Order: sequence, then C-alpha cells, then structure tokens
Amino acid sequence: MIKKCLFPVAGYGTRFLPATKAMPKEMLPILDKPLVQYGVEEAVAAGLTEIGFVTGRGKRSIEDHFDVSYELEHQIAGTGKEQALAGIRELIDQCTFSYTRQINMRGLGDAILKGRTIIGDEPFAVVLADDLCLGADDGAGDGVLKQMVGLYNQFRCSIVAIEEVPADQTHAYGVIAGEAISDQLYRVTDMVEKPAPDKAPSNLAIIGRYILTPDIFELIEATPPGKNGELQITDALLAQAKRGCVMAYKFSGRRFDCGSVGGYVEATNYYYQKKYGGGVEQ
Ligand code: G1P
Repeated sequence: MIKKCLFPVAGYGTRFLPATKAMPKEMLPILDKPLVQYGVEEAVAAGLTEIGFVTGRGKRSIEDHFDVSYELEHQIAGTGKEQALAGIRELIDQCTFSYTRQINMRGLGDAILKGRTIIGDEPFAVVLADDLCLGADDGAGDGVLKQMVGLYNQFRCSIVAIEEVPADQTHAYGVIAGEAISDQLYRVTDMVEKPAPDKAPSNLAIIGRYILTPDIFELIEATPPGKNGELQITDALLAQAKRGCVMAYKFSGRRFDCGSVGGYVEATNYYYQKKYGGGVEQ
C-alpha cells in the first residue's frame, strides 16, 4: 500500500519572477486555492495521506497553510466567511505533514533524495505542484495519482506520468522511449532529460507525477550530475528501467503547466469557467 506523497517545493520558481521573489510558486492561487492544495487534494483522493515536503528558504507559508491560523479563525468564527476554510480544515484533519529542507538546489533527484528521511523504505508518490492535473472525465473521474496507484498495485514498479508534447517542447521535459503495453502504458527503454528535438527519443514527456520504489534512493546516490549540472531523477529512473522495470503512463485527464505564465492563465480561465460558468463570482 502506498501511503506517502512527497512534494519537492524548494525550487525558486524563476519563470514567475517577480511574483515568486518572496512567495513560493506553489502558493500561487488558481481562483481561491493555492496550487499546492490542489496537489495535496489529489494525493488524498488517491489514499495518500502522509504528506512530506522537501522545502527550502522562503517557503514557510506552505507550512502555515497546512496548519490552523488561530487569529484569523477566531475572527471569522460564527460568520459566513468561516465556510471558506472548511475545505482546507478537512484536508488538514485527514493528513499528517512532515517537512525536511533541501539546503542547496541541486536538482529534482537531489530534492527527492532529501525526502528519504521522510519516506524510509517504502514506495511513494511524488507531486510537482506546479503541474496542476485534472482527473479523468473533466475532473469527475479518478485523479491522475489515483490512476497511477491502481497501476502500481498491478505492476509493483516505478511509474511516470506522460503526455504527448509538440516536438519543439521536448527541451522542457524528461522524455521517454518505450515498448507499448497498451494504448496508455509503456515499458520504459530510454529516458532523456530535456533533449533538443533532434535528440528526443519520442514526444512523450514526463509530467510532475511519479510513483517510485524505494531503491530509487540508492540509484540517485549513484547517479552523476546530469543536465545543467543537476542530479536528475530522469537519469536515476533510466538506471532503474535498465535494471528492472519502469512504466510510463499516458494518464486520463488534463494537465496545466502552472509553472509558466501561459499555463497558469489557461488553468485559471479553465477553472473559472468550470466553477462560475458564464456568470460572475458572487
Ligand atoms: C522536472 C523534471 C522533468 C519533468 C518535469 C515535469 O523538470 O526534471 O523531467 O519532465 O519536471 O514538470 P522541471 O520542470 O522542474 O525543470
């Protein structure tokens, strides 16, 4: 059973400067809810209630978000505004939250390795909160993590979520090659971090949802720095794929790249339309 979900949140969010100068990119709201809360809700919907954050300097507001705010809650107690906090309170009640710090930004592989102290020796999920994922059937069906947990229970190996991207976008993603097992599932044979279009093994890009088996930690430790001199989870996963099995899953649903201004605006418009239709927020 997978119970733990790791959120690497130490990154600087440079694509969103100056908004992220003093504020974590994971706290940017889509409508009235921060990105990281959408991620935790997706984890809880998949049955993962032990939430771990690999955090860093300037990220304190994430910890405060997943805690009570006595003064504020006292002020609005008994008023109509109390209802606005019902969702986050319920989420907090369902989860435990653990925090560890990544001192130096040495890449996603390093961030995940820092999470070992929270994860221990069990399979776990990883969510990159700036990838906002809507589940199957326009969000009415299973979330992406829930779909992946179901696959993990079947295959018992690491799984990365993938989607097709235009060839000129491969440089922004880890890209896989694999043998198709079904329409939505591949057994990974190759993986390259942020390849130029002519070096990309396919147009199947990894998005920010992973399920990892705990042997990944030793593999990260044995992985030399890769693209941009950083420790890449993609390289460690390729080693895992060569020695055993890694699956790539073309998920059902939709993903918004909320680490970019364009994707963020697209998500905002989409969720606004979904929540308020043609109408205006009251
Ligand atoms: C990271 C990973 C990359 C993956 C991407 C998904 O890159 O290194 O393999 O495709 O997340 O969002 P980043 O976006 O942090 O540069």
